[in-house]
Amino acid sequence: MNKENSASRNFILTAVLWLLIGVLMGLTLALLFVFPDMFRGVPWLVFGRLRQAHVNTVMFAWLSGGMMGLWLYIVPRLTGRKLWSEFLGNICVILWNIALLVGIVGILNAYTQSREYAEMIWVIDIAVMVVLILNLINIYMTIANRTEPKLYVSLWYITGTLVWMPLLYFLGNVMWNPPTGALTGINDAIFNWFYGHNVLGLWFTTGLLPVIYYIVPKETRTPLYSHFLSMVAFWGIILFYTGVGAHHLEWAPIPYWLKTIAVAESIGMILPVIAFMMNIFLTMRGNWNRFMTSIPLRYIITGWAAYILVSYQGSHQALRSINLITHFTQYVPGHAHLALLFFAASTIIGAAYYIIPRIYKCRIYSRTLANVQYSLYVIGFTAFFGGFLLTGLVQGSNWLHQGLPVWSVLPGIRPYMALRASGGILLVISFGLFAYNIFATVISQKEDIQPSFHVKHVESRATGTAD
Ligand code: HEM
Ligand code: HEM
Repeated sequence: MNKENSASRNFILTAVLWLLIGVLMGLTLALLFVFPDMFRGVPWLVFGRLRQAHVNTVMFAWLSGGMMGLWLYIVPRLTGRKLWSEFLGNICVILWNIALLVGIVGILNAYTQSREYAEMIWVIDIAVMVVLILNLINIYMTIANRTEPKLYVSLWYITGTLVWMPLLYFLGNVMWNPPTGALTGINDAIFNWFYGHNVLGLWFTTGLLPVIYYIVPKETRTPLYSHFLSMVAFWGIILFYTGVGAHHLEWAPIPYWLKTIAVAESIGMILPVIAFMMNIFLTMRGNWNRFMTSIPLRYIITGWAAYILVSYQGSHQALRSINLITHFTQYVPGHAHLALLFFAASTIIGAAYYIIPRIYKCRIYSRTLANVQYSLYVIGFTAFFGGFLLTGLVQGSNWLHQGLPVWSVLPGIRPYMALRASGGILLVISFGLFAYNIFATVISQKEDIQPSFHVKHVESRATGTAD
């Protein structure tokens, strides 16, 4: 429990197991769209329950658990201090996994509050809050005791994220009202999407951009191009991204001005996204050969590209004229997967390939497997995402322009649903290879042949700081 890096490793490894469970649930959902009667009569496999279980498994157990594991590795490296308490970190791992296991099994058995990203019942919310707060204490104490005077960009993001999420989680889950975990009427929808959106913006986005800011300079051995640009991105996200929850509710009876602010700020997001894009692009200048040779960097740069794509897509789909066609269609879960399955998952996979071998001072078990995994990931995702987009556009245009009822559109979209499920099969195989490779790395601990470990973090040509 007290071994150096054990909490980070345990968070990452348990998250990888959850990934497998989560994507198998996703695949089952995708198949249900093609063969709706597949599980007729099995209550815990009905779409409504399985969808919530899938979303909670991948968002909290896999992505969030994995992300916390990455921070527990990165923060000590950036502060020059060991983690304040490995013991506390491991308590967080255990509590987090038990809470999610109970929460997800509960959802499958219909114990749910049925509010998006706030489905789990009150007792689970308490356990989640305890972990979020203990994790905050652990990382803040590590930073408080740091020997490195500079507060690196990544630390800015991580320290902010650690404070925002417990506040958001408490508010969004309406934790002062245990029986329903909800307010009443339309206020609840506004509240739910303030929270739901910020889980994406102030948890996954500000939690994973620092991972990209950390690994790109490390793997290219090049200082981050600009500390200033990273600050533009940081403050830009805080300014524009926090108030856009209403762009999820453009057709709900909420105040018009609230929607207008949300749309305007969604367009404003182009600014921090460009700042982030250019910063990493310019850091990569002269280093693109590393994209092919470094497995972690390849996934991290794919995550970076996906973040830019999903943000441009998001700014466009927030416009009322576009949202009119895409809302209530499969286009939106398509965007959700570009965000979480391509940006967030790719970043965590790349970072896991970076961190796990370093913890064990060994090399990745099989580069070939990692390369095959990458190809399946990109091909599978393209088909999967294409299936979502095509389905969504056909649904939207048929309803809007032809006035066709929902049922009459269904036969026409079946081939695209099948395309999505086929892409999903490749994705599941790809994630299976990833899990195998990570666990085989841990078990075999092949001797390291790269002398690149523990290179001191470097940052910012523009400010000429720490080297
Ligand atoms: C890292 C992996 C994954 C993540 C983070 C993820 C995330 C999500 C999220 C957030 C949603 C809700 C979307 C929304 O409300 O708009 C969702 C729904 C869904 N996911 Fe995934 N997913 C993953 C993997 C998969 C895989 C591999 C498949 C299929 C093989 C899949 C199939 C689905 C389906 C069919 C839905 C329901 C869409 C609907 O309600 O119309 N997911 N997923
Ligand atoms: C500039 C950046 C972005 C903008 C302007 C944006 C905009 C939007 C809009 C307008 C919707 C609602 C669509 C609808 O319901 O009709 C949406 C949904 C969504 N976005 Fe984004 N997005 C951005 C980036 C991101 C990022 C970085 C993530 C993840 C880290 C993300 C994750 C999601 C998810 C999961 C949903 C589905 C929510 C649901 O369950 O309905 N987005 N986005």
